[in-house]
Amino acid sequence: MYLGLDLGTSGLRGILVDEAGQVLAEAEAEIATSNPQPGWSEQAPQDWIDACVTVMGRLRETNGDALAQLRAIGLSGHMHGATLLDRDGAVLRPCILWNDTRSAQEAKELDQTPGMREITGNIVFPGFTAPKLEWVRAHEPDLFARTAMVLLPKDYLRFWLTGEYVSDMSDSAGTSWLDVGARDWSDRALELGYMRPDQMPRLVEGTDPGGELREELLREWRLSGPVVVAGSAGDNAAAACGIGSIDEGSGFLSLGTSGVLLMARNSYAPAPETAVHCFCHAVPHRWIQMGVILSATNSLNWLSRNLGQPVEALAGALPAQPNGPSSLTFLPYLSGERTPHNDSAIRGAFLGLDIASGSADLVQAVMEGVGFAMRDCLEALRSTGTESSQLIAVGGGARSRYWLQTIATTLNVSLALPKGSAFGAATGAARLAMCAAGDATPEQVMTSPEIDAIIEPQSDLTEDYDSAYRRYKAYYTALAPLAG
Ligand code: XUL
Repeated sequence: MYLGLDLGTSGLRGILVDEAGQVLAEAEAEIATSNPQPGWSEQAPQDWIDACVTVMGRLRETNGDALAQLRAIGLSGHMHGATLLDRDGAVLRPCILWNDTRSAQEAKELDQTPGMREITGNIVFPGFTAPKLEWVRAHEPDLFARTAMVLLPKDYLRFWLTGEYVSDMSDSAGTSWLDVGARDWSDRALELGYMRPDQMPRLVEGTDPGGELREELLREWRLSGPVVVAGSAGDNAAAACGIGSIDEGSGFLSLGTSGVLLMARNSYAPAPETAVHCFCHAVPHRWIQMGVILSATNSLNWLSRNLGQPVEALAGALPAQPNGPSSLTFLPYLSGERTPHNDSAIRGAFLGLDIASGSADLVQAVMEGVGFAMRDCLEALRSTGTESSQLIAVGGGARSRYWLQTIATTLNVSLALPKGSAFGAATGAARLAMCAAGDATPEQVMTSPEIDAIIEPQSDLTEDYDSAYRRYKAYYTALAPLAG
C-alpha cells in the first residue's frame, strides 16, 4: 500500500493506493487561509498537521487493514511558501504563501541583481520564497535572526512525519535559491538573498527516499512499518507524475486555485524573459516549463462569495455549451499576475458592464477571463518553442464542461478529461512513493490516465474568441500604467 498526500491551498487530500496503483480510499480535510492585509496570504503550519491527522483518521476508519500494510508515503504541496523554524524546530510565524504579494519590492530588487535569473532560470517572482525572506529581514528582523531553517509547506509536513529536514528538486526550484540546471542549492543565490546553506534542508530527487515515518506515528496509526517517505514534489510536478506527463511536450492545464499550463521537458530550457517558469521535474534528469496565473478557480470563488451563491449553483446556471464570448470582460488579476506580466500591482476588473448585466453574465465573463489568461500562458510557452495540440485538463475547475469548452476554443487546443476524480497531484505523490520504496520505476508507474472525453475547440467560434482575447489584452495594456 502507498499513500499520496497532497497539501493543497484549500485542503489536504489523501489517497491510498494498492500495488497495481488502484485507489482504495480517499479522504480530505479543509485548511483555512488568512488574508490579514491586501495582498497577504498566510496559513498556520499547525493546521497542515491537524489536517493530516484528520485525513489519516478517516482513512483508518474506512480502510484500517489496508493502511496497516503501508510501505511508503509521497507528498505533494503548494509551492513557494516560507515556513520559518528556530533552532529547536519551532515555527516562528505563519507561513507566507505562494499567492502573497507583499514582497513585490524585494522580488524586484533580487530579480534585478545580476546573476539571479542566470542561476535560477526564472524571474524572482514576489510569490517565490527568497523575496519573502528578504521581506522578513526588513520588517521582522528579530524573527529573521532566529531563523535556523526554511521549509516549503509539504516539507514542514515531512518534518513532522519524519523528524528530518529534507526537500526535493521540483519544489526547491521555486525558492530562487536553487541552481535549477544543476539541481543543487546555489551558494551564490543564497548569498544574494542573505541566506546560508545551513538554513536549507538536504536535497533529494522526488523518486528517492526522503526520510522514514517516526516510531511514534507508526504506533499511533498502527502501521507495521518501516514506512519510507518519498522525496516527493511541488504540486504541479506531482500532478504531472499523476497524469503521466514526464516526457518532452506532454502536458496539462490545471484549473485549481491557481491556473497552470505545464509541459514536461527532457532538458533544461529556461526562458525567464517570457515569465514562463522553468523548474526541475520530480523525476531525475527532467524539467518542467509552466505558465502560471494566480487566480483561476479563486476568481470564481471570489465571485461566489460576493454573490452569496455556491460555485456549483453559479456554474450550473450557464448553458451546456458556450455560444460565443460575452461583451463583458473580466481581468482575473485578483492577486496580481505572474505569466506573462510579472505584475504584482495590477488588480482585477470587469469591463463593459451593461445595465442588463446579471449574475450569469458575470460568471461567464469570469470563466472567459481565466481562459484568456491561460491563452496568455500558451502564447508565452509557444514563444519558447514549446507546442502541444492536446492537453489533459485537471483541477477542480475541470468539473465545469462549459468552462473547459470555453478554454478549448480560446486556446484552440483540445482538452482531454481523465476518468474519475480530480486527484492528480495526490496520485502523483502516491506514484513517487512507489518509486521511493523501490517497487517501481517512473516509466512503469507514471502512465497516462484513462480518458473520459476529449473536448474539441468549437471551430465556428474560434475567431470570435480570438477577437475577445485581443480586447482582453488591450484592456490590460490600458490599465497596467494606472495600477499601483
Ligand atoms: C506554481 C504556483 C502554484 C502553487 C499552488 O508556481 O505558485 O501553482 O504551487 O498550487
